[in-house]
Parts: sequence; structure tokens; C-alpha cells
Amino acid sequence: MAMPLDAAGVSREEAMAGLFTPFRLRQLVLPNRIVMAPMGRCFATDGVLADGYADYFRKRVEGGVGLILGEASSVADEGSSNPTSPRFYGDAALEAWRAPIAAVHAAGGAFMPQIWHAGLARAPGTDPFPDLPSIGPSDWYIPNTDEQLRPRPGHVYGNPMSESQIADVIARFGEAAAHAQRLGADGVEIHGAHGYLIDQFFWPTMNRRTDDYNGSLRDRTRFGAEVVREIRRRTGADFPILFRFSQWKLQDYDARTVNSPEEVADLVEPLAEAGVDLFHVSVRRFWEAAFTGSDLTLSGWTRKLSGLPTMTVGSITLDQPFGVGTDDYAEHFTKADASQHLDFSRPASMDRVLDLFAKGEFDLIAIGRALLSNPDWARIVREGRFHDLKPYSRDVLGSLA
Ligand SMILES: Cc1cc2nc3c(=O)[nH]c(=O)nc-3n(C[C@H](O)[C@H](O)[C@H](O)COP(=O)(O)O)c2cc1C
Repeated sequence: MAMPLDAAGVSREEAMAGLFTPFRLRQLVLPNRIVMAPMGRCFATDGVLADGYADYFRKRVEGGVGLILGEASSVADEGSSNPTSPRFYGDAALEAWRAPIAAVHAAGGAFMPQIWHAGLARAPGTDPFPDLPSIGPSDWYIPNTDEQLRPRPGHVYGNPMSESQIADVIARFGEAAAHAQRLGADGVEIHGAHGYLIDQFFWPTMNRRTDDYNGSLRDRTRFGAEVVREIRRRTGADFPILFRFSQWKLQDYDARTVNSPEEVADLVEPLAEAGVDLFHVSVRRFWEAAFTGSDLTLSGWTRKLSGLPTMTVGSITLDQPFGVGTDDYAEHFTKADASQHLDFSRPASMDRVLDLFAKGEFDLIAIGRALLSNPDWARIVREGRFHDLKPYSRDVLGSLA
């Protein structure tokens, strides 16, 4: 079924084969372009991962994933919005990462943790440190969207970070990355997306500071760039640094970090200069044009304007009847397309992946929910057995299968 795509004439078959070619990032060579998206499964006690993670990741690598991104893992006591999220600091929590990393490596994959600070997305009184105040760029907090996925009103809450608190959190990110390197991780992903701390600095609705960390988008990028620079300083020249940013926020699914190609440049140039190796561009539907007047996706713009490789994500193979009739996150991601797609034997989104990959809009693809339902997603897709893909259902979140 070879079909010409663009001027380069790359067929979808060739594009599919290309997804399974190695990818080099500094000294790291990934076996292919398929990545497990970071997904908070939240099976940790006091920040220490449950035993099941080694098997959970190993199954995905055996199923053909080249790189596993670990779930959001906090870098500081006040950095987690969930009492059962893992940590990337403290002896016991750090030791618990050894087995999953070893399991991924033994199966032939690469592993990078996602290091995270929730900032003001951490609700007041969150266990296990209920007395610690939540901190953020300013004291303006917007709660996560409600069940109807409507943004809720913001209010004053939490502590604006002092300069010394900013320096402290930057140092904590650096320490976490140094721990990742010491534990044998193949790089690190910085969580700069979805309305958590770094993204709160990017987002003028949350960032109401009057100092040098606010102003233009380049000014609002300063905090994120300082985190990157510190990680580069702590880990040296060869350690891959991924940076995830998003348009959508947990507090507002329709919010936007960048409104034009110029703003993409304002965001990604300082981060690239600080030491990012690859941008992970988090959008809900990867194929959508980022701005009017051009078909380029946000990943495509990021790649073009940063000169760095990118990873795309968002609803890949979820245009099958996945999640329809559920009332959660899943439905929000999928309902727009489920009714439009009739041929469930071949998800239209996979053809879009191949077309955009052939056009050079991204280098890697991250798979989230479809990989929870299908540990062997990569093998199924490579073999074109789309009818074997199991629909995503939130029931899979109940255990680490
Ligand atoms: C259960 C669940 C947990 C998630 N946790 C994280 C997380 O810890 N860090 C993050 O950056 N994104 C997180 N995400 C977002 C995913 O990485 C991904 O961007 C999103 O699910 C879209 O990809 P998909 O359509 O392939 O599922 C989570 C998504 C799900 C479904």
C-alpha cells in the first residue's frame, strides 16, 4: 500500500519502517522512535515505588517500546500534588528506581525519569506534608478543571516564591537529575507542562510576579531555563535532557502557552540555549495545526524554530472507539474524533503519524493510554495488526498490569 506522501515521496510503508530505526541523542542510541509517555500511576508509598514497576515497564519494552519515560516524580517535599506519587530524592525512594531501570535495560530499552514540581497545583494540606505551604510564581491559584472540564475560578492561595526559594527548587531539580545519572538512567525529562510549577511561570494567568521572572514570554521562560542550565551543569555535556511543555493545563484545557510562531521561538530558544536536547511537545491531538495560516503542528514549529529534535504525543491510535462513554480524562481526549472515524481496522491517527513523520515534524512519538491497554502496542502497529489493539478503558488504571 505504498502511497506517495509529500515532495520527498516517502511512502507510509517507508515512514512506518522509519519509526523503527534507531535514534541518536548525544551518546545515547535509542533502538527506535517509540516512547512510553510519562503517566502518573501513583503506586508509591512515602514516595517509594511499589515493586510492580519493573515488570510494568519491562512488558512495554518487550512489546517494542524504545524509551520509557517514568511518571512525574517530585523533587521536593512540597513538590508533589499527590500523596502516592513517587519521589526522585531521598535514599529509600531513589533505591527503588534501581529495579525498574535495570529491567528496562535488560529488555533492551532506555529509561528516563520525569522530574517534577507541582507548584501551586498542590492543594493545601496535601499529605504527607500537610503543614508545608504550597509555592508558586505568585499567590494566584487556579484549581484543576472540574468534572465537566470547565476551568474553575482562581483565587489567592499559596506563597509566592522568594528568590532563595527559586534558587532552592532549581538546585533540587539539579540534584534529582544528578541522582538519575548516578542510578544509570539514560537521561532525564523535565516536566515543564500541564500547569505545574515550571509551566505556571510560563503562563501569565498564574505568573503575576513583578520581578525578572515575569514580563515577556522570554522573561517567563527564565525560571525553566535556569532549571535546565543547572541540570546541564550537574550532569555534564553528554547527559540527554528532554523538556516537556504543553499548551493545555490541568487547570484549563483550552489555555495556550504560545500564540504564534514568534512565541514558540521566545519559549524554546532560551531553553535550547540552556541545554535542552529534545523537546517533548504535549498536545491533546498531535495532528492539529498549531496556528492559523500554516498546517505545521506545534511539534513541527518547535523543531523548525529550535533546530532540535522533537517528540509528539496526543491521541495516537485513540481514534478507535477508545474511551467513548467514559466520563474521564480519556473521554475528553478522544470523544472529538471517535464519532468521525468509521474504519476501526486502521486508525486514521496512525496514518497521520506516518504522514507527519515523513514530513519531518517530529523524531519520536510518545504513546500514553493506548500503551496502558496494549503493552505490545509497538509490535502490533509495526505488523499492521490494528484490529488487535484493545480499546483504552480507565479500568486499566486500577493496577500496574
Ligand atoms: C493516567 C495518566 C497519567 C498521566 N500522568 C502524566 C505525568 O505524570 N506526566 C506528564 O507529563 N503527563 C502525564 N499524562 C499525560 C500523558 O503523558 C499524555 O500526554 C496524554 O495521555 C496524551 O497521550 P495519549 O493520548 O497517548 O494518552 C498522564 C496521562 C494519563 C492518562
